[in-house]
Amino acid sequence: MTTNADIETVGAPAWWKHGVIYEIYPRSFQDSNGDGVGDLPGVIARLDYLVELGIDAVWLTPIFASPMVDFGYDVTDYTDIDPLFGDLAGFDRLVAEAHRRGLKLILDYVLNHTSDQHPWFKDSRASRQSGRRDWYVWRDPAPDGGPPNNWRSEFGGASWTFDAASGQYYYHAFLSAQPDLNWRNPAVVEAMMGVLRFWLDRGVDGFRVDAVHHLFESESFADNPPNPDWVQGMPPAYQLLRPHTVDLPEVHDVVAAMRSLAEGYDQRVLIGEAYLPIDRLVTYYGRALGGFHLPFNFHLISTPWTPAAIAALVDEYEAQLPLGGWPNWVLGNHDRPRLASRVGAAQVRTAAMLLLTLRGTPTLYQGDELGLPDVPVPPDQVRDPFEINLPGLGLGRDPVRAPMPWSGEPNAGFSASEPWLPLDPNWRRCNVDIQSQDPDSTLSFYRRLIALRRSEKALLAGAYRRVAVTDSLLAYERSFGARQLLVILDLGGQGGRLGVPAARILMSTDSSREGEPISPGALTVRPNQGLVLRLDR
Ligand code: NOJ
Repeated sequence: MTTNADIETVGAPAWWKHGVIYEIYPRSFQDSNGDGVGDLPGVIARLDYLVELGIDAVWLTPIFASPMVDFGYDVTDYTDIDPLFGDLAGFDRLVAEAHRRGLKLILDYVLNHTSDQHPWFKDSRASRQSGRRDWYVWRDPAPDGGPPNNWRSEFGGASWTFDAASGQYYYHAFLSAQPDLNWRNPAVVEAMMGVLRFWLDRGVDGFRVDAVHHLFESESFADNPPNPDWVQGMPPAYQLLRPHTVDLPEVHDVVAAMRSLAEGYDQRVLIGEAYLPIDRLVTYYGRALGGFHLPFNFHLISTPWTPAAIAALVDEYEAQLPLGGWPNWVLGNHDRPRLASRVGAAQVRTAAMLLLTLRGTPTLYQGDELGLPDVPVPPDQVRDPFEINLPGLGLGRDPVRAPMPWSGEPNAGFSASEPWLPLDPNWRRCNVDIQSQDPDSTLSFYRRLIALRRSEKALLAGAYRRVAVTDSLLAYERSFGARQLLVILDLGGQGGRLGVPAARILMSTDSSREGEPISPGALTVRPNQGLVLRLDR
């Protein structure tokens, strides 16, 4: 019988296979200097919280110098820290403090585009003769003077902006303030590989690689065709299919070059951000696994929350993984609605149990461990350019970026002054301090669940086998050697009964049943309950 257990575990497993990754959105994590925006000293001050939570690696969204039009995803200097967050000396302190506690640090590498204020782009746009003209994607206007083709920006409108002074359009997959680099130009490749080296030499443990599927555009510059499956509610950019602007084959050469570079260092990880169907996503492991260690798998965010749909997703993903490719799962991030608002408060713990017991590396988003919901942001406080460009479509990302509520102190202990985005109105009742003291809180549940995961080889490295799917329940086995665990999740919220062998409850979404022995027979699972059983076999 074939098994998908990780045999490498017998030796020394790579940390990124068994570790839990925690995403920090630094603006909203912890402010240390009272300007209402989180910063690096703030992250340092909260490292012990992360140790207690039990995570292994921190991924920081961009902290490089930036005008912050897209909150750091518009970089003006890849080798300096934005003063809002701190400086290089402070960054080195963060690396040292994280490593001292056994935590890894992953940076966000924004390689598809720079800021329009980056000196490279200023030089490029200065004239058609500029030595850096070809570092970005420039095109002549269409015969009618309009954009060269119908390509759309992810954030609304055309993805071309006219530069009157030089009479050409430049391409931007995102905002006009985020011109795309031209990765067909070897000088760009060299400069950007230098950026990776700079941070690897400084001791970072890896990169989350931003929007990597956007790296190349087809040289034909042909129009993208209409998307027959587009429906109201989807971002307007998806009215077109994107064969000429997304997921071009050339991207794999760049990823392979990044991987070779990373292989020159010890145990560094490359994680790719590519929102793609599974059959396309798995190509990002690269030929002979020479691509990303972990192409982010976002499908739990978009798959309908039913046992049948999730079971089918896991099956499809497991079936399509390349031999030796390590799986990973993501339940939330700074771009997508919060878990609690997507699946409902009653499902938050069951969802966490799914994330932390599936086969592969889990990534958590800050605040999900408290069960934070999306926080409504009044129109006059909107900050996200996506919402500003396309108001009222429900695409804005401010609601998922509300500052962390730490305590009952003013501004939830996040900052000495008013935070840059509104806090969850419920912060006085839902914050880290209160949840830390309550053994039945969502935070305490996450801590126990992560601790269980760390202590169980079957969860870290064991095989996955689907056991049952009913209208409401999903059950699967994780096994490593003789150790067999059965995970039963009531994802449908109806509860149900399931035949089980003799077992003991290791973990339950309501701690009441933990430790309980189970006799063979039909086990009753309460609505929204999640259970991890150890089989007695
Ligand atoms: C993906 C990032 O996660 C998102 O926040 C950003 O706006 C775009 N890439 C553009 O860099």
